[in-house]
Amino acid sequence: MDYQKILNEVYEEVKGIKEKGKVADYIPELSLVANDNFAMALRTVDNRLYTIGESKKQFSTQSISKLFTLTMAINIEGKTLWKRVGKEPAGTSFNSLIQLESENGVPRNPFINSGALVVSDIILSEYENGKESILKFIRELCNCENINFDEKVAKSEAETGYRNVALANFIKDFNNLDNEPKDVLDFYFHQCSIAMSCEELTAATLFLANQGYNPITAKRITSESRTKRLNSILLTCGTYDAAGDFAFRVGLPSKSGVGGGIVAIMPHQFVISVWSPGLDYHGNSLLGLKALELFTEKTDISIF
Ligand code: DON
Repeated sequence: MDYQKILNEVYEEVKGIKEKGKVADYIPELSLVANDNFAMALRTVDNRLYTIGESKKQFSTQSISKLFTLTMAINIEGKTLWKRVGKEPAGTSFNSLIQLESENGVPRNPFINSGALVVSDIILSEYENGKESILKFIRELCNCENINFDEKVAKSEAETGYRNVALANFIKDFNNLDNEPKDVLDFYFHQCSIAMSCEELTAATLFLANQGYNPITAKRITSESRTKRLNSILLTCGTYDAAGDFAFRVGLPSKSGVGGGIVAIMPHQFVISVWSPGLDYHGNSLLGLKALELFTEKTDISIF
């Protein structure tokens, strides 16, 4: 398969699309990013890299970071994790409060904001310095040192993240947070602010395409069984209330973020990432989704 040729073709087609979606502005700092950025990277499990566009430029990973914290939490908690957070698609927006009341403060899944807050709580309880631990984990995954929080983005979200504040307080009231909401929120806002490029993201997530083993660093990150579970949650919950549309159009377990990035996993073969900051109604990258759809249509590769 000539992946480079296909990425070039996808790029040409996507470039011509006029409707680019809207850059997130509910976190003011994100609204400063130009909507004409575009990048893709594909990394095979034998570590061959194919790229197009601004694949080395870092952007705000936002909810993509939730797959790293979930991996850490699964490794910490094992099966007991699922007592504190569910594994069903929510069918509601990523920052919804609705189900939490009737479901006693147990979030539907670890990728909606409420679920990610519970995951953050687990990491804070495990490590003396939670913020250092997530940076260390990602740096080791991608074998790159320059993975950092974007303090401006973290501050911007802390100043405006009233919904997340409400979610954390609500979950605490149901006794599903061990730490203080303000500490959980500080960790969560920082985790979401982590900046990475498309190339770095493909390296950091390659273990998900390789049964839990990182071929770049020759280290096992998690077990084969847990890798299956991580990928299944990516497929059913990774793109929120658009997970059905994603599975239908792309057919790969995927994780999106409101920074406009998406990572998609093709087990046993490769990871592909895309960045285009303009979002659709659901908060997923509009052109990113289109690019992944074009890619899987042109290659006839998907998990189905
Ligand atoms: O908590 C928030 O709203 C953001 N920090 C993350 C949301 C997000 O990326 C949802 N993704 N599509």
